[in-house]
Amino acid sequence: MNDHGFTVVAYNRTVTKVVEFLNNEAKGTRVIGASSLEDMVNKLKKPRKIMLLVKAGSAVDEFIDSLIPFLEKGDIIIDGGNSEYRDSNRRCQNLRDKGLLFIGTGVSGGEEGARYGPSLMPGGNEDAWPAVKDIFQTIAAKVGKDACCDWVGPEGAGHFVKMVHNGIEYGDMQLICEAFHLMKSALGLSHDRMSKVFDEWNKGELKSFLIEITSDILSAKDRDGTALVERILDSAGQKGTGKWTAISALEYGVPLTLIGEAVFARCLSSLKDERVIASKQIAGPESSRFNGEKKDFIEDIRQALYASKIVSYAQGFMLMRETAKELNWRLNFGSIALMWRGGCIIRSAFLGNIKEAYDKNPYLSNLLVDEFFKSEMQKCQESWRRVVSTAVLLGVPTPAFSSALAFFDGYRSADLPANLIQAQRDYFGAHTYERKDAPGVFVHTNWTGKGGTVSATSYTA
Ligand code: 6PG
Repeated sequence: MNDHGFTVVAYNRTVTKVVEFLNNEAKGTRVIGASSLEDMVNKLKKPRKIMLLVKAGSAVDEFIDSLIPFLEKGDIIIDGGNSEYRDSNRRCQNLRDKGLLFIGTGVSGGEEGARYGPSLMPGGNEDAWPAVKDIFQTIAAKVGKDACCDWVGPEGAGHFVKMVHNGIEYGDMQLICEAFHLMKSALGLSHDRMSKVFDEWNKGELKSFLIEITSDILSAKDRDGTALVERILDSAGQKGTGKWTAISALEYGVPLTLIGEAVFARCLSSLKDERVIASKQIAGPESSRFNGEKKDFIEDIRQALYASKIVSYAQGFMLMRETAKELNWRLNFGSIALMWRGGCIIRSAFLGNIKEAYDKNPYLSNLLVDEFFKSEMQKCQESWRRVVSTAVLLGVPTPAFSSALAFFDGYRSADLPANLIQAQRDYFGAHTYERKDAPGVFVHTNWTGKGGTVSATSYTA
């Protein structure tokens, strides 16, 4: 903000950090320091715009509570952390009752983005937007002339969209890890070769920040000249946003299978000790080496990654669509795709295609039925199936590639075996079912001849 000519007052609970900041990073800038909350509030122009960057959860509530006594009607509190969107719904309502305006904004881009141009996803009380719009859109990353920031929607909509961004980030990372695993275990490629493969991929449809950094990571060496990545413990951490995305999907009944698998893959990875013990006791297939043409299989993996990624984004947008419907939010999917096009962790060329799909049809029911994506999936299908079946035969786990393919096959099926589930439910619990020739009418069959005609009420949770 300072770089772009806005005056910033900096405050931290540990005031020595403010002093250090002013003497180092902020030296020679116009950033003003504050020694207390009251001092900070007094130094700000009205309506005050106060942006919190603190750990999600109770720390945000505590901060807001200690700020409130110093604020006046019309002042704006902006939460830029990774808050849970329902917390933001609540904070927005509570502050509105006090005459204060709340914005919960997603901020993505890591250290570099924060410093040189993040993707910003603000939502909350729309009355606050005119006061911060210029600041946010000026500092945000740009794609051409377009800022990767726009108003998302009411209450916690900004944090919700950021949460889905993070879920997709989990999915993208897991897909890349599966491609890496196949190239390492099934093809036995060196890290330098894999780095080159990712670098090549970064020139085409998969061009993205995460592919780019993966190429860099794979070429990095430890002190002894071997690949640094192999020195890193294979136990993935997580701060919760991926899990929240999966929980929301369960709550709204959206089959967000790929992100769910990505979260569970991290959980499985963290069972390192158990896995080490199991690896000595449970054998897989005799060989995990692929015998065919390596070059062709690398291309198959690329296409499998691309197709799975399309499924992942289609699922992410399905979740946003359903949540928006449930909560009565009007989300603009084309503008969300643009916000993610630059600055953020999932930024990629591919988000430009998603934006185009929603620009063409803002009411698109699913990305998979958009003409462009439909034909991309057709092109990749064969390779994708080859990769998943080969991985299964070789015993290399590919939960995200596989579940994406299972979703794809399920979504394109007019008939699924759920008729049998309905029959089973009715058989053992008299839960009733709808007949194809009389939809909307729930009936019960006395399957054994011993049950009565009484049935359970029919409802879907
Ligand atoms: C971003 C990131 C960031 C996220 C980290 C850590 O958009 O800049 O999504 O907000 O907090 O990636 O996430 P995990 O610890 O859950 O991997």
